[in-house]
Amino acid sequence: MSKKYYITTPIYYPSANFHIGHCYTTIIADSIARYKRLTGYDVFFQTGTDEHGEKIEKKAKEAGVTPKEYVDKIIADAKDMWSSLGISYDYFIRTTDKNHEEAVQKIFKKLYDQGDIYKSEYKGLYCVPCESFWTESQTVDGKCPDCGRELKMVSEEAYFFRLSAYQDKLIKFYDEHPDFILPISRKNEMLNNFIKPGLEDLCVSRTSFKWGIPVTFDEKHVIYVWIDALSNYITSLGYPDENSPLYKKYWPADLHLVGKEIVRFHTIIWPCMLMALGIPLPKQVFGHGWLKIAGGKISKSLGNYKDPREYISAYGVDAVRYYALREVPFGSDGNFSEEALISRTNTDLANNLGNLVNRTISMSHKYFDGLTKNPNINESIDEDLKKEVIALKDIVETKMQELKVNEAIDEIMEVLRKCNKYIDDTTPWSLAKDETKKDRLATILYNLLESIRICAILLSPFIPTTSDKILDELNTKARSYESVSSFGSLETNLKLNEPTILFNRIETKN
Ligand code: MSP
Repeated sequence: MSKKYYITTPIYYPSANFHIGHCYTTIIADSIARYKRLTGYDVFFQTGTDEHGEKIEKKAKEAGVTPKEYVDKIIADAKDMWSSLGISYDYFIRTTDKNHEEAVQKIFKKLYDQGDIYKSEYKGLYCVPCESFWTESQTVDGKCPDCGRELKMVSEEAYFFRLSAYQDKLIKFYDEHPDFILPISRKNEMLNNFIKPGLEDLCVSRTSFKWGIPVTFDEKHVIYVWIDALSNYITSLGYPDENSPLYKKYWPADLHLVGKEIVRFHTIIWPCMLMALGIPLPKQVFGHGWLKIAGGKISKSLGNYKDPREYISAYGVDAVRYYALREVPFGSDGNFSEEALISRTNTDLANNLGNLVNRTISMSHKYFDGLTKNPNINESIDEDLKKEVIALKDIVETKMQELKVNEAIDEIMEVLRKCNKYIDDTTPWSLAKDETKKDRLATILYNLLESIRICAILLSPFIPTTSDKILDELNTKARSYESVSSFGSLETNLKLNEPTILFNRIETKN
């Protein structure tokens, strides 16, 4: 039986203004999901939309429509974005789904019945855009510490979740599960900034607006949007029915991949909710950095970004995926610029990968009518290359286990660079002039084609469209993960297809 892997992205606020930063989380999650599938896991990859809350209610009002009409219109756009990026999610949850809403109501009621939620009065500061409550001491110059915007003083009857009761259990859990929060710096931030100063009970209902899931036993209250949103990770699996097949199979999640600003919700509120519910905690929460533009925020008001689909139309989906995955050291912030996207596409994809595939297949057509042959006339230079190619599988596996996606990709690119150097060193075109060197020439081309095949399979989680194109050009049936462990699965007497230009070099004005 294959091992299971449950990976989630945050569920997105439906917003008509998707930018490359939003795509970043999802592209990484997609690559990890694809990698796990490739390596034999039974994967459940979930994304979706977080559709309730005061912010949506306000936007819908401005647009003159109901909140549901407002979100319904935007969902199609979110799905279109993920399909343009080749996101292979298994389930798309909407928090307005009826089964989710009912499940959240049951979760709330259970916590209330067992005394983990109680009624009181909330008086304090609230950030509407972030949907976050803040205490006076957490504010920065009286403003929201996350987004820097004005806070609203709210005072209303509210329900509270007994977060404070879980403080010691949470610290113990962190101690016993050192890899629960990665990178480690984010764990220290949670401990020092939030947990050790003392967890305060959390306000989990609102009465001043309507667009949320009603509390069943007190209908003027709607459930706090983060309680609603975080629950998505289990309601999609059928919880609270703990016998639901999906829940039994996939929970606990293996990885919640989230941006750094929402690590707090996923590593404090969410684990405490799960402890209160008496169900297992996710295995890992990884907080990645932000993509920035010119070192600052990607921002609608600054008008500093384009719809990512414009980049996809201009440069191809894999250029965009590759750039997002390769450019930013996972965990840190990185900069996005169209110039850097172009330059990455040119150097890594057009020159290194595209050129290698094109010239190797072209030479095979020119010298052997596109037929693969392996007379096995190998020299030490060939053995060196083969060794590196075969080692790649384990190297990539180690990097992916550590979620160092950019480094995994770079290892593959390095082997492709070595293949290009192998061509320069063995100079097939000069061997072609000498009839007695034909077998040597055939061997060299076979070694190159086989190296390309192995690299294409290992690249498939990251640039799936290109990987398929390469394997189609090779016309090979040897596409399994197992076939990359040893050198020589590429069939002989195989008729290669005509080479194509995988990536056009993009000319820039300067
Ligand atoms: N709805 C909440 C998540 C609830 S999960 C139970 C939310 N939504 S969001 O649409 O604002 O953000 C979704 C994801 O996009 C987050 O992981 C966030 O960090 C990520 N990003 C938004 N802008 C980003 C960048 N500029 N760079 C990288 N990721 C960014 O938060």
